This record gives sequence, structure tokens and C-alpha cells, in this order.
Amino acid sequence: ENYKKEINAYEAANAEAVETFRIKYLGTKGLVKTVMGEMKNVPNEQKKQFGLVLNEFKLFTEEKFASLQAQTINDKQETINNFDWSLPGDSFAVGTRHPLMIVRNEIVSIFKRLGFAVAEGPEIEDDWHNFGAMNLPEDHPARDMQDTFYINQNPAWLLRTHTSSVQARVMEKQKPPIRVICPGRVYRNETISARAHCFFHQVEGLYIDENVSFADLKQTLYFFVQEMFGKEVKVRFRPSYFPFTEPSAEMDISCLICGGDGCNVCKHTGWVEILGSGMVHPKVLENFNIDSNKYTGFAFGMGIERVCQLKYRINDLRLYSQNDVRFLKQFTSAL
Ligand code: PHE
Repeated sequence: ENYKKEINAYEAANAEAVETFRIKYLGTKGLVKTVMGEMKNVPNEQKKQFGLVLNEFKLFTEEKFASLQAQTINDKQETINNFDWSLPGDSFAVGTRHPLMIVRNEIVSIFKRLGFAVAEGPEIEDDWHNFGAMNLPEDHPARDMQDTFYINQNPAWLLRTHTSSVQARVMEKQKPPIRVICPGRVYRNETISARAHCFFHQVEGLYIDENVSFADLKQTLYFFVQEMFGKEVKVRFRPSYFPFTEPSAEMDISCLICGGDGCNVCKHTGWVEILGSGMVHPKVLENFNIDSNKYTGFAFGMGIERVCQLKYRINDLRLYSQNDVRFLKQFTSAL
């Protein structure tokens, strides 16, 4: 009879206590099993009596276990019933979008408003899409091991050096009119400094149709700058050279970092280059069987790092990839 007292003393303090009870009495090495094992040592004439007591002990423990279990469930229910559901929730930290992605999205949204579609392509490219199709001759310095990361030293495969490779893939599949922008990461083997990195991000654009002119190019880019930086910003075009465009031009905007007073970003000229552009070279069109007598087009390519730097007055490109939360936390945007 003593065991009843002991068993009754058990309370379902928590699920753990209930489990302790189960292990002690009903587990494979528990008391019930152990006492059952004693049956063989009991003299025959006492076996019946022993069996009765044992059975009662077993039932008693099982019942107690069931009631302990029921109690913990009730306790849980009670906690839930007493819970104040109107309490404010625990706040949790959300990250912020990376400044380069904020600016990328903004650039994309401006060109989307002009009717450009977004195209993306692989970062590992072949020589044709990155260079050949873009009219870069075999001996062009950009193909040099110094500038291009080749995969396993194999000149056939490389990390794309510009997203013009995506434009090549679009021209391969699509007939004019073509109006796309190609945002993405590109790689160049440059020494990392405040002004350069071994990877950066670009948005390149391509517009091919009948009667596309240099005036369209200028107006499109001019519109972009005003949307991105505001109406006060000054713009200038300088003649330039790219193998895939003719004529070619680079576009500068008035320096937003120093306001023209002179700083390291504009190298004290008051102007900062933000993109390269030009009329698509007829050879590039012909590479994709686009009739260069019927169609013309313009293309441009800008570095997102540079645009972001001017927008947020960032003086060191390395900040973008150092993952310092003190830097990253400063940028919040719904974009
Ligand atoms: N592909 C050039 C670069 O990466 C940019 C560019 C694109 C220039 C289109 C002219 C026309 O530097």
C-alpha cells in the first residue's frame, strides 16, 4: 500500500516531470517491469496473490500516468487561455537593401518607363558573346590576361567583362525592334583600390529599330540623368572609342560630390564620367543577321557603383563589398 502514497505524491509540474514518472514506473527498465520479472522467483503457492497485487500496482501506475498527462495538457490550455493576445509582438531585425541594389532598381525603373525590357544572362561567358560578337579583334588589349579572368586559363571561357554579352544573347534570339537593358555583375582583373575593384555592376542598354538616331541616344540618356539626379545636373558628351559602336561617346555629369569645387572623384575637373555609349557598329548588327541598311541602334553601358557613389556621396568603392553594417544600415528604401 505504500507505493500508492508515493505515487499519489507525484504532481505534473511540467512535461518533464511527467516523463520522469513514466520512465521510473512504466519504462522498459521501470519498476512495473522489474517487479514483473520477480514473478519467477515467487514460490508457486504465492504466485496468484503476487499476481493480483502486481496487476493492481500496474493499473494504479498507468492511471496515475494518464491523469498526470491530462493535467499538463490542461495546464497548457490554461496558459493559452490566460495569454494576452493584444500584447505587441517581439520586434525582429530586418536587413536593409544593399545600396547597389537600390540604385540598380532605380535605374531599371527609369528605363522601364521608357519601354525597355530587362534581360539577364550568365556571368561565365564564352569568348564569342563577350568579345567576338562585339567586334573586339583577337589582339584587343581587353582580352589580355591582365584584364580578363579566364576560367582555368582556357581562353574559350571567361567571367564576363561587361553585360554587352547579354545584349549579344538578346540579338541572337530576338528580331528588331529590340529595346532592352541588361543589369548584372561583371569582372575585371584590376587591383582593388578606392577607385577600382575586381568586380562591379553594370546596366547596359540596347535599342535597335528603324530610324534610331544619335539624337535618340542623347535624349534617352539625358532623360535618365534628370530622373536619376535631378534637373540641375549638367551633362556633356565627349567623343570616344568602342569597337562595338561608331560613333562612340562618353557621357559626363557635373560632379555631385564636390559641386564643382574639386574633389578626388572628379579629379578636380568638376565632371565625372558615368557611361559609355554609341551607335551600334554595323558589324555587330551583321553578326546577328540584322540588316544594317534597314536598322540602326544605340547602346550604352554604365557602372552602378559610380552612379551610386554620386547619388549617395560615397568616396571609396571598397565600402560596397566590406559588409560593414554601419555603412549598410544607412540605406533604407522601399525599392
Ligand atoms: N561595354 C562597355 C564597357 O563595358 C560600355 C558600353 C556599352 C559602351 C555600350 C558603349 C556602348 O565599358
